[in-house]
Formats: sequence, structure tokens, C-alpha cells
Amino acid sequence: MKIAIGSDHAGLALKEALKAYLDSRMIPYEDFGTHTAESCDYPRIAEIVCKAILSAEFDRGILICGTGIGMSIAANKIPNIRAAACSEPYSAILSKRHNNSNVLCLGARVVASGLATLITEGWLNAAYEGERHQRRVDMLTRIEQRYAIPFAPQAPREEDTNPITPAEPPAGED
Ligand code: RB5
Repeated sequence: MKIAIGSDHAGLALKEALKAYLDSRMIPYEDFGTHTAESCDYPRIAEIVCKAILSAEFDRGILICGTGIGMSIAANKIPNIRAAACSEPYSAILSKRHNNSNVLCLGARVVASGLATLITEGWLNAAYEGERHQRRVDMLTRIEQRYAIPFAPQAPREEDTNPITPAEPPAGED
């Protein structure tokens, strides 16, 4: 199993703790940023990590921000991404067994690294159960398809394409 991992500035320290855990279990991963403590925008990291998962080079993703919420909202905008923001292991495990979540979102300001590691471990060890759950996951896909905008290419704005970490973030910005 290969993991794509990413965080914004608020999730940076927790991401490092989880990378140490993945190292200890010899689970391969790639860190898609951010790589510094400077303020950056979580939607961009979420999009980069989710694109990596959709490329099929990675099996699952882990996204960390302050609450896990912004990352999960952003990730769930992307077709075929099922992201679960979890603050305890039970939901994380069930999100894989029943919802076939392919992204785990964690809030570094919500869970300390010990609990975050247990959540991650439970999620990584869990397996999708399929059967009746597949019908429901298929329904999720069909909702996605019903609301998909017919191909309407949108030029990225500058803030969508400049480097992940701005050279000089505005003073005091979180
Ligand atoms: C950054 O301050 C914070 O808003 C972000 O990390 C995240 O919690 C958003 O959902």
C-alpha cells in the first residue's frame, strides 16, 4: 500500500509524526507538501494529494489541516474521492469498511499525535467490506455524476498555481 500524504502549515507537525509512524511500519509514502511552517492554503494541497490518488500510483491519502474539515471538504469535491475527517479510530475504521474511504483527514488542533496515530493505524488496517455497502457507494458516485458540470474548463487563478508556500505570507496570517 502506497500513501500520498499532505498538510497545510497547521498540520505540518502532525504530518511529520505520522510519517515517522509510516516509516516504522515500512509503509511507503510520498509527502506532497507543505514543507514549511509558512501559511498556505489547504485546498491546493488537498487537490494535489487527491490527483495523486486518482493517478493510481497511490492507494490512499492522508490530509492534515487544523481541524481536518477544510481538507475533507476540498477532497470530497473531487470525483471518486471519499474523504473522512475523523477524530477517533471507530469512525476511521468504519469509513473504510462501509464507505470505502480513500482519504483520511485529521485535525492537528483536534487530535494529538498519539491519538492521530491510532486513528491512522486503524484506518490503514481496515478493509472495505463491499456487498450491501457497494450499492451505497455506487449511489454516492451517481450523486457525483448527477451534479457534475458538463465539461467546463476553468482557467486556474494565480493563487491556484503559484508555489504551495508563498514566499512572504501576510504578517500574522494563519
Ligand atoms: C488554518 O488556520 C486552518 O483554517 C486550516 O488548517 C484548517 O483547519 C481549515 O479547515
